[in-house]
Amino acid sequence: MTSERVPPGISAAVPNVARMYDYYLGGKDNFEVDRQAAEKVLAIIPEVEGDARNSRAFLQRAVRHLRELGVDQFLDIGSGLPTAGHVHEVIDGANVVYVDNDPVVLTHSRALLGHSPGVTVQEGDLREPEEVMARAAQVLDLERPIALLVVSLMHFITDEENPADLLRRYRELLPAGSYLVLTHVAPDTMPKEADEVSNVYQRASSPFTTRRRAVFEGFLDGFDLLEPGIVNTREWRPDPDTARSQVKGDYHLCAVGIKRR
Ligand SMILES: C[S@@+](CC[C@H](N)C(=O)[O-])C[C@H]1O[C@@H](n2cnc3c(N)ncnc32)[C@H](O)[C@@H]1O
Repeated sequence: MTSERVPPGISAAVPNVARMYDYYLGGKDNFEVDRQAAEKVLAIIPEVEGDARNSRAFLQRAVRHLRELGVDQFLDIGSGLPTAGHVHEVIDGANVVYVDNDPVVLTHSRALLGHSPGVTVQEGDLREPEEVMARAAQVLDLERPIALLVVSLMHFITDEENPADLLRRYRELLPAGSYLVLTHVAPDTMPKEADEVSNVYQRASSPFTTRRRAVFEGFLDGFDLLEPGIVNTREWRPDPDTARSQVKGDYHLCAVGIKRR
């Protein structure tokens, strides 16, 4: 998309959070408007790029761990552009449903992943849990555990949209033994310039709301947390790659929980 040919129905006038994230991760699926906004963010806090990479690496470790525990159904909401290291690339033998509400993400995901075995791409909005789960049920077996991934997404849901209640509704709809993989950018862990970054996002496709650890804990109500509980992404079951990599920037709190019986 570096040629800036904009497909019909897609806005390149407003910076888009999916495409900005793709830029942080070194992807090519972004427009000039996204790169400019992302560069503004990086001028304020350069480690935001590392934060995205650390969050992505957490997602991959969590997914591998759950696959080892026998989970073979993954529902990834706000899956983002299929930059390297998507869920189905790091595990085998599982059904993966990618859900996003962004037309660019959907177009790219369908083009790149449409024919991968076990992979389905669905349009859906996190704020509509019943609709998302009903559509996922066309592919996933709702009688067996599912891993629901909501990674680097909840901070794009405003307080007015009642994020805790949305997650409660997902919990109720998930089969027994299901898991939630959740992250959230927290002001407790961000540098003082966090507000300036939020200001850049105010002019993007989704505003950005950081939330404190106590609020994040509330989002996990009804789930028993796997060890090590709520930590920053680099601290969640680090593997040798995590220990070796010196990527700076770790502003996401994360946790993996299993639905309480
Ligand atoms: C920062 S990216 C995270 C991508 C991926 N989860 C990861 O961690 O690498 C956030 C994604 O959430 C999507 N998104 C934002 N609001 C959403 C909503 N209400 N419903 C579904 N997806 C949403 C965006 O389009 C974008 O692809």
